[in-house]
Formats: sequence, C-alpha cells, structure tokens
Amino acid sequence: MSNIERNLRAVRETQPWRPESWRTRPAAQQPDYENAAELDEALSQLSALPPLVTSWEVLALKQMLAEAQEGKRFLLQGGDCAESFADCNNEVIANRLKVLLQMSLVLIHGLRLPVVRVGRFAGQYAKPRSADMETRQDVSLPCYRGDLVNAAEFDAVSRRADPQRMLQGHARSAMTMNFVRALVDGGFADLHHPEYWNLSWVEHSPLAEEYRRIVEGIGDAVRFMETLAGEPIASFQRAEFYTSHEALLLHYEQALTRHVPRQWGWFDLSAHFPWIGMRTADPGGAHVEFCRGIRNPVAVKVGPAMGAEQLKRLIDILNPDDEPGRLTLIHRMGAGGISEHLPPLIEAVKASGRRVLWCCDPMHGNTETLGNGTKTRRFANIRSELEQAFDIHAACGTRLGGVHLELTGEDVTECLGGARDLSETDLARAYKSTVDPRLNYEQSLELAMLIVRKSGTQPLTV
Ligand code: PEP
Ligand code: CO
Repeated sequence: MSNIERNLRAVRETQPWRPESWRTRPAAQQPDYENAAELDEALSQLSALPPLVTSWEVLALKQMLAEAQEGKRFLLQGGDCAESFADCNNEVIANRLKVLLQMSLVLIHGLRLPVVRVGRFAGQYAKPRSADMETRQDVSLPCYRGDLVNAAEFDAVSRRADPQRMLQGHARSAMTMNFVRALVDGGFADLHHPEYWNLSWVEHSPLAEEYRRIVEGIGDAVRFMETLAGEPIASFQRAEFYTSHEALLLHYEQALTRHVPRQWGWFDLSAHFPWIGMRTADPGGAHVEFCRGIRNPVAVKVGPAMGAEQLKRLIDILNPDDEPGRLTLIHRMGAGGISEHLPPLIEAVKASGRRVLWCCDPMHGNTETLGNGTKTRRFANIRSELEQAFDIHAACGTRLGGVHLELTGEDVTECLGGARDLSETDLARAYKSTVDPRLNYEQSLELAMLIVRKSGTQPLTV
C-alpha cells in the first residue's frame, strides 16, 4: 500500500463514513417513494445482485486519469443526456460506440496522446430537474426524473416513483455493458478495421475527406509498428471503455456500493466514474457525503454560481489527501460566462496547490429554448466555449485535460449549426431527445477535429 493510500485510510478512520451516511445530510433531487416497504424490498434485491463494474477496472481508470492530470492522456467523456429504457437496443448502443471510437481516433492522431474513453452510458438514467412538480392545464404531478425513477408520460401512474425501476435500470445497464464488452472484445474496436465504425455520414459529409486522411494515417502507423514488431500488436485490436453517470439517485448508488475482497474501503460499482451534478454539489449535502467515501475517481460539475471557497471546500472533502486521479472538475459555464467565471476558480485551485483534472462540458451552459418551445444548443456557442476553455487554461498555465459532451451516434437534428449548418426548421426533422439536445455524429466529429486544432495552444507541462 502506498503512503497516499495509508494516509487516505487514516483520514477515513477519523471521519467515519458508511454507504448510508448520506442519509444524515440534506439530499436534493430525490424522489418521494410512497411505500417504504416496497423501497426496502427493491433495495435489498439490488444489493444482492452482481455489480456492473469491478474494482480493478475502477482503479485502472483512476490511474489513467492521474496520467491525464499530468498531460499524458486526454479524457473523452460522452453519451446521452439521459439514456432511456426504450433505447437499450443494438443500434443505439453500437452507434454511440462508433462515434466515440471515431472521435478518439481523431484525438489520438491529432493530439499524439492516448485517449481515455468514458461513456455516459450503462446507468445514465436519473436526471436532476428544476422543479419537483409539473403542471399542465391545472393538473400537477411529480416531475419526470429519468427512467430509473418514473415514466415520462403525464399521468399519475407513470409519474409515481417506482422502486422496481432501479432493478430494471440495473438490468439494462448490465445488458448495455455486456454488449459493449462483447463488441470491444470481439474486434469491433480493432484499429486494423476502422471501417467497422463507419456511419452513413462518412459518405457525404464535408468532413469526410479529413476523417479519411486521419484513418489512412493511422492505418500506415499501425502497419509500420507491426512491421517493426514483426507480429500483430494486441493492443491495436481492442479499445477500453469506461462508464460514468451522474450519481444522483443515492438509494441506487448505495445499493451498488460494495466491499471487495483484498481491497480496503468501498467501491461504487454501478459505474467506474460517477459524477456529482451542478445542482447537487453542496459541500454539506448528501451527494458530496456519499462520494467522499467511495474509492472511485469522481467528478464534479462546476457551474457559474460556484465560488472559489465552495470549490476549495469540495476539493478538501472529496480529495483530502490530494490523491492522483481522484478528482475531475468539469466546468460548464456557457460561452458567455466562461471568461468571467473560470479564471478565478483556476487561480484558486492553483493557489491551493491541489491536483485536479480540468475537463470542459461545453453543452450545459449553452442550452436555450426557441420561441416554439424547442430546447436546443448552437454549435457556434459550444465551439466558442471549448475554444475559450483551451485559451483560458493556456493563459493560466494549466491544462485542459478532457471534454464532456452530450452526443449520439444517431442522425438527429437537435443542435443548431455545424458543418451542415442545421437551421431551426431542420430541428423538426429528427429531434428525438426527451431531455437535452445532443450533438449528432457529424457535429461530434467536427468538435473532435476542433479540439485537435485548439490543443496546439496547450502548455507542455501543467
Ligand atoms: C448533465 O450532465 O446532464 C447535467 C444535468 O449537467 P449539470 O449538472 O452540469 O447541469
Ligand atoms: Co444534459
């Protein structure tokens, strides 16, 4: 056991933590389960089921995030705003994997760095909401909190918080993981066959030529390396994927938090990399208390209202011993707010001398509602926030080590602009999200290419 681990253990012993200690703190964004016996029954079943990931994988990811903190890797975190039970199918899962693989190819090639791939999938089923109730024509019902809690249809039965949904969400997460693991292990991510990941856009996109050049460049490099080695290189045949979701529904997270043989402490084995959302990042709140005690790497969303003092407290609570790879800060300020809000936070973290991985979510600060009620995001704003993030970190002498995106492998029309310059009328064509608007595959690739262009401004050392 390393010194850091020994110290960490000592901290845990002086500040007792249990998987259920979050219950002593105010817990925002939790549903009201009407029937305690029904809830307990579902939780006891869930606690007995196998977890979704293993502690070895969790620790391997933490090590990779530590390397990203040192500028030796780049984090690509992406997927749906919210998964739905209905979308747990072959096509949606495979297409999402394809777009993440394509993006990581572009990033590896352009950044000359290995990419840590983390999906927002296999558990991204619970959503924070701005109001507890929703009213339509004099009828008020509990809001829809994601498929892990209730159903979106506006009737009393659908909106009732149903504890059985946690078991269904666990099962669908397991099916998603199973399919992802089988695809990856079966050769789907093989660098010798990037054509396996082609989506229809490659045929007709304005970006297709650039993408094809990158694929050819990688193909040449792979052949060159294998010629040198005199044999096929196994690591070219598979790609690692890790999972993440917002650790929002604490009953669910607690039930999947386990002690593991030959490891000390507790692991939240619902995902490798849980994050705390912007609305639940109160240092005195239940979500921070829960994440304090698990050994996973954790992330916190940092919005424009977060002050330097709050951020420093969060760092102290979540990473008291400055453990490498443990804490990622995902800033999501909006294109109009990042230049004002981010620099003071970077300076505060620098002054504290603490280790974090900086990651930019250029999606959630740029959501807007059009006159007809459609929620959208403008590609120009997403791009602008990301470009500014690179420039601000470069100016502060820190490094942007990752991006966090809402995207899909489907040909949706939810965000405006991009290479094909989607307009407001295009949005009606294929708007599928029930929550936030996502980048489609083409817009996602465009962003990956943009990251490569901007990362030239990064300092070489942190
Ligand atoms: C999200 O990532 O879907 C989300 C709700 O983000 P935030 O907590 O940053 O608003
Ligand atoms: Co979202």
